[in-house]
Amino acid sequence: MQRISEVVGITLRKMREHARPGMSTRELDEYGAGILQHYGARSAPGISYGFPGATCISVNHEAAHGIPSNNVFLQEGDLVNVDVSAELDGYFGDNGGSFVLGKDIHNHNKLVDSSRRILMMAINRIKGGVRIAEIGRFIETEARKDGYRVIRNIVGHGIGRSLHEEPFEIPCFYDRFNTARFKKNSVVAIETFISTRASQVSEKGDGWTLITKDGSFVAQHEHTIIVTDTKPVILTKANRI
Ligand code: CO
Ligand code: CO
Repeated sequence: MQRISEVVGITLRKMREHARPGMSTRELDEYGAGILQHYGARSAPGISYGFPGATCISVNHEAAHGIPSNNVFLQEGDLVNVDVSAELDGYFGDNGGSFVLGKDIHNHNKLVDSSRRILMMAINRIKGGVRIAEIGRFIETEARKDGYRVIRNIVGHGIGRSLHEEPFEIPCFYDRFNTARFKKNSVVAIETFISTRASQVSEKGDGWTLITKDGSFVAQHEHTIIVTDTKPVILTKANRI
């Protein structure tokens, strides 16, 4: 898990550095696919769900699971989310992050910084025995302090021998029915979904892309971590989000 998490971390970092205005999201995806291939890793969304791309690239009003396209060209100031998950020797890693392309002419950086900061603070509060719902509460409380909301219908998850496994629901809000606790020595993918307004996303009509109905912007950051007795070990730290 250390090896594949390092591979997805490197891939995400290099894709972010490679992204340029004028580039299509398909071109950026193909660059990422080449890096995964170099390490002998297989894209997880493809082998797990038949996703039509190596990585998920979501631009502006797209919140997640954006399909790389020959017709979507990145522009200066775009809010871009790249999510890289892959498999190597039977183990999976998952790493995602939103960023502003070039100059922040649309003022998205406050949202991006909030999401990044909240993810790191939330990770630092996770250890064996902590209720999953309490981490959700923490993420939502911090988002509200920054003037934001959280998306409630996409969540973090356990990861290991498959991309998504127990616990299947690590939400960004306090779900009182979720009584599960983080287990020491388990591996989980923690994800923020911080939104300027909306609290739900829905599928755009292409079978994959998730958007907000009211045009809210969403920032996501995600790390694969090992839960311990103390601070978690961040396996995807090769990507310093
Ligand atoms: Co994930
Ligand atoms: Co992901």
